[in-house]
Amino acid sequence: MRLADRAVLITGAASGIGWGMAKAMAREGARVAIADIDRAKVEQRVAELGGAAYGVTADVGDLAEIDRMVSSVTAHFGRLDVMVNNAGVTRRCAFMDIDEALWDQVHRVNAKGVFFCLQRAAREMISQGGGVIINTASIAGRGYPGTSNAAYAASKGAVITMTMLAARALGRHNITVNSICPGVTRTELAQNIMQLQSEKEGRPLADIEAQAARGIPIGRMNEPDDIAEMAVFLASPAARNITGQSINVDGGLIMM
Ligand SMILES: NC(=O)c1ccc[n+]([C@@H]2O[C@H](COP(=O)([O-])OP(=O)(O)OC[C@H]3O[C@@H](n4cnc5c(N)ncnc54)[C@H](O)[C@@H]3O)[C@@H](O)[C@H]2O)c1
Repeated sequence: MRLADRAVLITGAASGIGWGMAKAMAREGARVAIADIDRAKVEQRVAELGGAAYGVTADVGDLAEIDRMVSSVTAHFGRLDVMVNNAGVTRRCAFMDIDEALWDQVHRVNAKGVFFCLQRAAREMISQGGGVIINTASIAGRGYPGTSNAAYAASKGAVITMTMLAARALGRHNITVNSICPGVTRTELAQNIMQLQSEKEGRPLADIEAQAARGIPIGRMNEPDDIAEMAVFLASPAARNITGQSINVDGGLIMM
């Protein structure tokens, strides 16, 4: 039980990577709060997880909702030990087709949302004497050419940068801040992107998936569990002296 009794809040936890993290952390003994914009899915996931699970519906692009989310989770558990800023959005878009609406939509959630969730969680952690913050970035933030679009890649570059600066600012409060950079991971978000590519190119989805896997040195895409295992490690006492890092979990797709 590497996370026995830890109070954890995960955004975007109703599906994909966030849901994988919620299950993995609960298996390690954590009390997990599932936060997501999708109310019906939050209720469903809380019921599935059972035990000490708690649910909260919130849009992480809205500062008032972030405040309400963190306050309610902290009040429910009595403290906040681990904050996972995982919610993110994107869609496939060619460089020259990116418009202001797409830029704003992506940056509102992926960059602004991560920053203000991180800052709000840090306020609780400073007053309780420490904590762990984990952000879901992406290898897109390191310039991975297979990214869904350049606005998304820039938002993930922002997450990698704010991870370093937050780690510097918060280290003296006994708070570690790290990011995970997933590669191609089998979730709804990734499936939608590959489905669109399959329709556009008139090729079966299985072809697109096989092509994606061929480019990966280990030869397989991530499952959400691959990312969840890294999150458990970063949240555990074993990672107490690791901070400011962004760690790729991608089967070797990007080696920087
Ligand atoms: N799947 C991949 O290949 C991949 C690769 C690299 C990074 N990532 C990152 O991993 C994270 C999770 O992605 P995923 O693949 O699990 O996606 P997903 O679409 O399966 O899940 C994302 C969840 O976030 C929620 N969400 C969206 N907007 C929100 C908002 N404004 N407020 C609160 N919740 C919101 C959605 O309802 C959904 O439940 C994202 O940050 C994504 O950028 C994914």
